[in-house]
Parts: sequence; structure tokens; C-alpha cells
Amino acid sequence: MEYLIETEHLTKEFAGFVAVKDVSLKIRKGSIHALIGPNGAGKTTCFNLLTKFIKPSTGRIKYKGNDITHMPAADIARLGIVRSFQISAVFPRMSALQNVRVALQRRRGGSFDFWRSKAILDGFNARAEELLDDVGLKEYTHTLAKELPYGRKRALEIATTLALDPEMLLLDEPMAGMGQDDIVRVSRLIKQISKDRTVLMVEHNLNVVAELSDEITVLTRGQILATGSYEELSNDPKVQDAYLGAGHD
Ligand SMILES: Nc1ncnc2c1ncn2[C@@H]1O[C@H](COP(=O)(O)OP(=O)(O)O)[C@@H](O)[C@H]1O
Ligand SMILES: [Mg+2]
Repeated sequence: MEYLIETEHLTKEFAGFVAVKDVSLKIRKGSIHALIGPNGAGKTTCFNLLTKFIKPSTGRIKYKGNDITHMPAADIARLGIVRSFQISAVFPRMSALQNVRVALQRRRGGSFDFWRSKAILDGFNARAEELLDDVGLKEYTHTLAKELPYGRKRALEIATTLALDPEMLLLDEPMAGMGQDDIVRVSRLIKQISKDRTVLMVEHNLNVVAELSDEITVLTRGQILATGSYEELSNDPKVQDAYLGAGHD
């Protein structure tokens, strides 16, 4: 299966305003695919459509060749398509370890009695510590989330997402608001994550996009302008015009 996700003519209208128009996106399995474009281009709306936060007006979404257009959001998450939430989704008064443990518990679902077993809770602890180590947060294991430096909070957010063991990870502006050190660290993390997963990310930092992406789709006014490698796109006059003309943010 070459493509993990394929959308066909995906369109989303908000009260007459077409935010996403006729988007046919193909995301290769195991790739890092970036969605770029000016503010208001429809990137976040595309994410919301893929994770079923919102329903498309028309068009289809296929996952591993199966039509998932009408599948409820909870089932999409269960399939392994998981969106990394904003920092606010991390519980500020819990430690990094507790946050990851809660995510692991959530993944298992099931009855609450189940969690009372100490052996199971200890099992979650071990896995949570492993995940924290993976994202470079070992030294912050017992730090409260609200006391973590900004970039480390994003790393924690990624760890809680990885706890769900997704096949596909959607990252909406993972580098937003980060300093250079954090950008380097989180870039490395995304690269590492992508070894056995597919990543779709919206990112404004073009250096990051150039370094990480296997494939890039440029969206303008809800439509796909071009798809290709960074080299291909940077030599495409259409893309140059869109970025210079529309005021890239
Ligand atoms: N729920 C909504 N209702 C009405 N308009 C919306 C809604 N969500 C997004 N839009 C509009 O759709 C367009 C695309 O938005 P968005 O997907 O957030 O763009 P991007 O993430 O590329 O900046 C914008 O013009 C935005 O105002
Ligand atoms: Mg957006």
C-alpha cells in the first residue's frame, strides 16, 4: 500500500465560504508530508477533516484504501490517526510522568477497576518513563507540566500522543513559538518518530519543512497549488508567486 491516506475532491464549506476546495491529497506511508501555505489557506481545516473534527461538505477520505469519510472521530483515532493537541491539552498540575501515564491509560480504555491493579499501573510507569526518555524529557520526569520550558512542553505533548501508538501523527505547527534550540530538538524528535510512522504536519518554518519533509503540498485559498519535494517547489514559479504575493506568515 503506497498511500496511507488519500483524499478525493475534499471540500468544506462554512456557510457559503469554501475553506477547502477539491483537495486530492495523497500521503505516502512512512513519509513526512508537510502542508504549507499562507494564513487562512485551509490547512487547519484539512487537519480537522482528516481527524473528523468536522465533516466534509463533499469528497472522500480513504485510509489504506478504505473509505473512512463517514467514520466517527473516535473510530478514526482507534484506527491510529492521531492529532497532537495544543499544549492546553496537557494537564498543567500533573508531572510529565503522570501526563504520559494518563495517556497510556486512556489508550487502554476499559473499566476503572482495572486500573487499581498495581502491576498494571507499574507497567504504565515503565512505559511512560521510556516514552519520556524517547522525547528527551528524562530529567523532567517529575516536573509539573506547567513548570516545563516551552519547547519541553511540546515534547511532552508529543510523548502523550505517542502513548496512543498512532500509525499516523498530525502535527499542527509543532514549532510555533519555539526558540532555535527547541526547534533543533523537536525536529530531531519528529524525524525519529517518523521512522515507523507517517507524519503530516503544518509548519510555517520553511527551514524545518525543507529539512524534514519527504513531500510538501502547498495550499492557497483552500486549493492545492502544487505538491513535490522542497527542491521542486522552490523552483516552481507558481509557488514563488503565491508566497511572495500572498504574504507568507
Ligand atoms: N468554523 C469555521 N467557520 C467559518 N469559517 C471558518 C471556520 N474554520 C475556518 N474558517 C475559515 O476558513 C479559512 C481557512 O482557515 P484555516 O483552515 O484555519 O486556515 P489555515 O490553518 O491555513 O490558516 C479561513 O478563512 C477561516 O476564517
Ligand atoms: Mg491553521
